[in-house]
Amino acid sequence: MRVLSGIQPSGALHLGNFFGMMKRMIDYQEKHELFCFLVNYHALTSVSDSKLLRQQTFDAACDFLALGLNPDKVVFWIQSDVPEVTELTWLLSNVTGFGLLERSHAYKDKTAKGIPATHGLFSYPVLMAADILLFGGEKVPVGKDQKQHLEIAKDIAIRFNNTYGDTFVIPEPDIEDNFAVVPGIDGQKMSKSYGNTIEIFADEKTLREKVMRIKTDSTPVDEPKPIENNILFDIYSLFLNQREKAVLKERFLTPGLKYGEIKKELFGVIWEYFTPYRKERERLVNDRKYVLDTMKKGAEKARQTAVVYLERARHNIGLDYWHK
Ligand code: ADP
Ligand code: TRP
Repeated sequence: MRVLSGIQPSGALHLGNFFGMMKRMIDYQEKHELFCFLVNYHALTSVSDSKLLRQQTFDAACDFLALGLNPDKVVFWIQSDVPEVTELTWLLSNVTGFGLLERSHAYKDKTAKGIPATHGLFSYPVLMAADILLFGGEKVPVGKDQKQHLEIAKDIAIRFNNTYGDTFVIPEPDIEDNFAVVPGIDGQKMSKSYGNTIEIFADEKTLREKVMRIKTDSTPVDEPKPIENNILFDIYSLFLNQREKAVLKERFLTPGLKYGEIKKELFGVIWEYFTPYRKERERLVNDRKYVLDTMKKGAEKARQTAVVYLERARHNIGLDYWHK
């Protein structure tokens, strides 16, 4: 099974990215053929500072490698190193209905939040479909926010195949219920663009501050605390197995629990959880050449697959005009 997914280097990666996509990809590398990439073309919809884009792209590569993505097992690359994806985007554009893109929640949400309504933002799902179809992705691990984008990709693949003959694999989303929507410290979906993240590799002081800022309700100390829609409970639970979660639930339901104390405890849990990876990340940041070489090699491998699908699409469309 070919499993494929991408992430935007549009800011520091956070717990939503980790549990919704990164950890699942890293776990899958043991049993599936994995393609993983950093979508810097997509990031152009929100990042216009070249220095920042370079830095964030490098940082995201270090994050993935430090967290255990093995570049010998996984094809891991930076989207713009395989620019064939932009050609496929154009080819797909012609089987993509305008109405399909107009219905995109992500587009509507982003423009409502003041992100300029550019053509790039509008056609974002077409580039994403190209990312998937160019590499024959069968299963795509993502958070719930990407569900509609996956439906659009599927729709585009079907329409292309119906129009030009069998060309692309039809992809399926892979969304894990427990991690479908990781809440941010304000209770909205945790997102780089909402300023509500807990970053995976924040320094100690920042991490502590972020955890202490998790929004809680005003239930008095001597009353049981609610479990439903409790942001603190939900974030803490990400780090627990079923049995540990049941214990935490019991603690919340027992009068006397102080949110402040749970926050201090949670800070310790998060800090410990990422400690081994933090050391590895520091090593990688200081070995820039290794990281850049690794990404280049990944792009070469990715391109070998990309050209096969792109040539097939060009042929089925009739762009190879010399062909009889
Ligand atoms: P962001 O919204 O922070 O910019 P991305 O759009 O780059 O994040 O998302 C990268 C991956 O991480 C996607 O698969 C996305 O669904 C997943 N993801 C992002 N935020 C969350 C979240 N809060 N909960 C679950 N998954 C998430
Ligand atoms: N749109 C995705 C996001 O914002 C990132 C992405 C781009 C992606 N291309 C992809 C995810 C292909 C899965 C497959 O999170």
